[in-house]
Amino acid sequence: MAYQHTVHWVVDKHVDNLWKSPEIKEAAAKIAAGELVAFPTETVYGLGASARFDEAVKAIFQAKGRPADNPLIVHIAKTEDVNNYTNFVPDKAWKLIHSFWPGPLTIILRHNSTLSTSVTAGLDTVALRMPDHPVALALIAASGEPLAAPSANRSGRPSPTTAAHVAEDLDGRIAGILNGGATGVGLESTVIDCSAEEPVILRPGGVTRRQIEEIIGPVALDEALTEETTAPRSPGMKYQHYAPEAPLTLVDGDDSFFHMCITEHRKAGERVGVIIQAADVGLTKADVEYVLPGKTEEEIARELYGALRTFKKTEVDHIFMRVLPAENIGFAIMNRLVKAAGGRIRSQHS
Ligand code: TXA
Ligand code: MG
Repeated sequence: MAYQHTVHWVVDKHVDNLWKSPEIKEAAAKIAAGELVAFPTETVYGLGASARFDEAVKAIFQAKGRPADNPLIVHIAKTEDVNNYTNFVPDKAWKLIHSFWPGPLTIILRHNSTLSTSVTAGLDTVALRMPDHPVALALIAASGEPLAAPSANRSGRPSPTTAAHVAEDLDGRIAGILNGGATGVGLESTVIDCSAEEPVILRPGGVTRRQIEEIIGPVALDEALTEETTAPRSPGMKYQHYAPEAPLTLVDGDDSFFHMCITEHRKAGERVGVIIQAADVGLTKADVEYVLPGKTEEEIARELYGALRTFKKTEVDHIFMRVLPAENIGFAIMNRLVKAAGGRIRSQHS
């Protein structure tokens, strides 16, 4: 769409009866009119439009610059709304719904053809999720619409965890942004396909494989996922994802190996940025340091996309970060990092 004035609404997520607030009502009216509104969820900000209007859904793809063959998640505010868009929900899917909704788990089911065909990219399945955020739930309730919402970034960029990140990418391209503060989890929802006999995790995220298996028993990981997350691929993977402005290289090695990688690049005349934990302050002598606050995997997940967005190409030529153990939410972190790095990993051991 041509230039649009983007409205910024600030909302307090702790207010009672949020769906009656003037900001939510205005935003809901835009959704009902087929326009695009960005809103916070507990994972990342989403770019929402009614999942029933094909034109509105197409506008999401256009605003993001997203390939049309990549389907969107449909956000609902009540678990029973699953029945509105599907004909059959397997037992295991209901168990997951009752255990994790509202929350960062997206469930793929066969749909009943009531939603826009663009939202499902023409597939016979739909991705459904009930977000755990009062602003998201209020917007869905006030508009009375299921919301198609991918992450509210330009395609290929790190997902937005604050309203400022959304504005950076989409100001002037969308009708409005509901600013409800920073999101919680910081990485997108886990995506699990429950449309066939055996459930398969397609994307790791806020809900871990172990948590899922505690409820429904063993689940498979999509093959591509294991390859992408554990083995470095050749640089330049099929789709660029989560990419910072300067190239990112992951480093797998001890302190002196990490230091050596950075020194090498600085000697070659590059300005080097690093994303590090507090324990590594002073180790690298990089030009720009981003120190991750906290050290649990959950805290790192929350800060990761913001960290990637901090580095501007005018300030650094290359970014380095050490790999993390790919366990629990660390598996989701590494999945995003390997993509952000386009598969570039320097390992001391190979
Ligand atoms: O946390 C999240 O999931 C965020 C917030 C805004 O809810 N949304 C999000 O949406 O990450 P997006 O569009 O960036 O990612 C949706 C993922 C994509 O990997 C897409 O390929 C997959 O879900 N997906 C959607 N529908 C699908 C389907 N029918 N079959 C397989 N994969 C599907
Ligand atoms: Mg995304």
